[in-house]
Amino acid sequence: MIEKRAVFATRFAAVATTVGSAVGLGNIWRFPYEAGMHGGAAFILCYLAFVFAIALPVLCAEFAMGRDTRSNIFGAFRKLCPGGAWHYVGYVAILASLLILSFYSVVAGWTVEYTLASVCGKLNFADAATGHGQFVELTTGWRPVVWTVIFLLCNVCVLMGGVTKGIERMSNILMPLLFVLLVAFCINSFTMPGFADGIRFLFSPDFSKITPAVLLSALGQAFFSLSLGLGCMMTYASYFSDRNRLGTTAFTTAMLDTLVAILAGIIIFPAVFSFGISPGSGPTLVFEVLPFIFSQLPAGAVWSTLFFMLLFLASITSTVSMSEISITFLCEEKKMSRRSATLLSSAIALVGGVLCALSFGPLRGFTIGGMTVFDLFDYVSSNICLPLGGMAVSIFVGWVIDRRMLRRQMTDGGAFRFRLLPVLVFCLRWLCPAAILLIFLNSIGLI
Ligand code: TRP
Repeated sequence: MIEKRAVFATRFAAVATTVGSAVGLGNIWRFPYEAGMHGGAAFILCYLAFVFAIALPVLCAEFAMGRDTRSNIFGAFRKLCPGGAWHYVGYVAILASLLILSFYSVVAGWTVEYTLASVCGKLNFADAATGHGQFVELTTGWRPVVWTVIFLLCNVCVLMGGVTKGIERMSNILMPLLFVLLVAFCINSFTMPGFADGIRFLFSPDFSKITPAVLLSALGQAFFSLSLGLGCMMTYASYFSDRNRLGTTAFTTAMLDTLVAILAGIIIFPAVFSFGISPGSGPTLVFEVLPFIFSQLPAGAVWSTLFFMLLFLASITSTVSMSEISITFLCEEKKMSRRSATLLSSAIALVGGVLCALSFGPLRGFTIGGMTVFDLFDYVSSNICLPLGGMAVSIFVGWVIDRRMLRRQMTDGGAFRFRLLPVLVFCLRWLCPAAILLIFLNSIGLI
């Protein structure tokens, strides 16, 4: 028999863990680099529209499926539609979650490197020209492999601590602290010479920049940032108590997550323009820019240590949730012990992680379709698997299963009225599937 399923102790803990999953490198590293590569404000506008019109309804649907079935993604589809083939979505989701875990661990590994470099006073802030050089030094060669491995080991340690103890405790304390630090850096941005340019880049859209690629990336980013499309939020919701207003939890998560991404943008872009870095630098952008910001601050090394440490912890609360997708699947469907399940999925991510880590150094020249292994994993999982997973969830909840399931879950079994239910149903039946489909067809040039 499977171990008894855990339930998050309080409503606060449920929100804190969900936000812990959502807020991570996706907001602070991926959002600025994607925005920078795709025209700034135009991208952000699409992103905001997608978060609230597409991702939020899918988030509610994932919550409902998770809490209704109290299962992993595979079991949730099967319980709600026995005999159907929907649970195969689960396989794709599990595969994609391991791809994400692979490249995510590499970036999280950089945060470890940067934390230690800050502690040892090795981050060289003095000379603007060395910022880039230093990043290259820190991220090429074999060193990142070591950090990726160390990060995955930390991840395993938290996962072994179990759901309630390990995850809850960490999120409750650290997420608010990260938030305070972000607000402080954001205020500091106002003093930068490039502040006006940065803000213009972020908030003054040039509509001609909205291309099919921008739309697809913004959609992928909305899903990535809210941990959607792979049943991650579904798995977390399976640990929610029966008295946990799903609509409120979903809305709070989306708001806080978006807020953190925007704060990260306000921190990064004024600095980008102040120090003459190209906003379109790609995945390395944030790690090149941040040391400049710290160099301007009194006691820069202290700030940078604190910041990278918190970023590391924010990454762990996200990777833990990503790992839960495959771990709950292996435990509940394949009857593995939690320990073996953790080790197996981490081992797979380790292999992927090493390949991704090397793709900034020795494997730089190895490209598939013009992308390095790192870029490929990122692109395939975020821009293809996540939106398709989200589309599957919305069609499933909107059309395939009994609509009373959604009503029951959104109202805590009829304990209160959920006025937005018709809007939610409309989004899940029509808006989400149609919008995702159009964006896809558009991006492959079919329409
Ligand atoms: N949302 C997290 C972030 O922004 C990343 C993440 C955690 C994720 N779990 C996920 C992304 C599941 C996709 C699927 O950093």
